[in-house]
Amino acid sequence: MNTIILSVDKDKDNSESYAQAVDFLKKGEVVAFPTETVYGLGAIATNDLAVKKIFAAKNRPADNPLIVHVGTIEEISDYVEDIPDVAKKCMEIFWPGPLTLILPAKKGLFSPNVTAGLSTVGIRMPDHPVALELLQQLKQPIAAPSANRSGKPSPTKAEHVLEDLQGNISCVIDGGGTGIGLESTVLDVTLDIPTILRPGGVTKEMLEAIIGVVNAPNQEEQKDDATPKAPGMKYTHYAPNAPVYLIESNAMKIDKALNELHARGEKIALIAPTDLDNPTAHYHFSVGLQDDLDMHSARLYDALRACDRTDATVILATTTTTDGVGAAIMNRLEKAALGYWEK
Ligand code: TXA
Ligand code: MG
Repeated sequence: MNTIILSVDKDKDNSESYAQAVDFLKKGEVVAFPTETVYGLGAIATNDLAVKKIFAAKNRPADNPLIVHVGTIEEISDYVEDIPDVAKKCMEIFWPGPLTLILPAKKGLFSPNVTAGLSTVGIRMPDHPVALELLQQLKQPIAAPSANRSGKPSPTKAEHVLEDLQGNISCVIDGGGTGIGLESTVLDVTLDIPTILRPGGVTKEMLEAIIGVVNAPNQEEQKDDATPKAPGMKYTHYAPNAPVYLIESNAMKIDKALNELHARGEKIALIAPTDLDNPTAHYHFSVGLQDDLDMHSARLYDALRACDRTDATVILATTTTTDGVGAAIMNRLEKAALGYWEK
């Protein structure tokens, strides 16, 4: 299959590109498109065959449900059994935006692969002009996981989508770099206490200001069988080819680690803030200035992917606070890494 690249440019008439993308979707093909978090790989959420193509293109395990994307808040009542008051408040304040709400799904509506057999469905309204235009022209819900091969970092540029999926999907709409760079927060609002299943751009602090107490199980608590989990969080994720070790954002600690790695004859890639560049690393991928969490999240996946284009044999990546969006950065880093260089 030849993968077409559809361009959209805010200074041009893009009607041709949208018409082509809508046409592909209506024919049951899969289309990659930008959102404010990462690129998604979309299919019409009620079309069984189209949804199956998403799983095949990504090599995604069948027990991992997809997020349904919508273009309006009003349509939600057609898709779910009930909208709890907390969910209404969240939609009002955080939609469109990087927040997926787990809600009780209407039976028999979505393709069974979308919900992976669960009674709930994850829904979000993306805050990206291209995603919204596509949804509003299509007038149907789009099921879309991140547009990467399963296990790889999510794509934050159209090039990343092509790296993983060229030849396996009908087209990618190239809307440039995504803003946030990490996937949406997944919040289960079917539980007595709303629970974050995956941290993201809408933080625990932001949610609690609107809906009161929110559970946010940490890495340790997530190992407990009784803790509610997103099925996808059990899989290895975001992993470049070379092993990743996490290290504190501290020049002396980085220097010491580099010396030890040099003594072992390793080729080293360092993913760290610009101000912590170390000339002895073979490759340095910057995540912005120290403590700029937004820049760190925007650049992290690009940096992890860039390591795969080098001959690095080991990757050192610096850690952040777990406050605010730092919780999402550390969640992804801990999944990408073999462990801490020293703890
Ligand atoms: O930002 C995002 O959320 C991106 C863009 C494209 O919207 N999408 C994305 O999708 O990250 P994906 O498939 O890579 O991650 C979806 C996560 C998985 O961990 C999945 O297990 C969880 O959401 N999920 C989906 N439906 C669920 C449900 N009914 N109950 C619990 N977890 C669910
Ligand atoms: Mg994903």
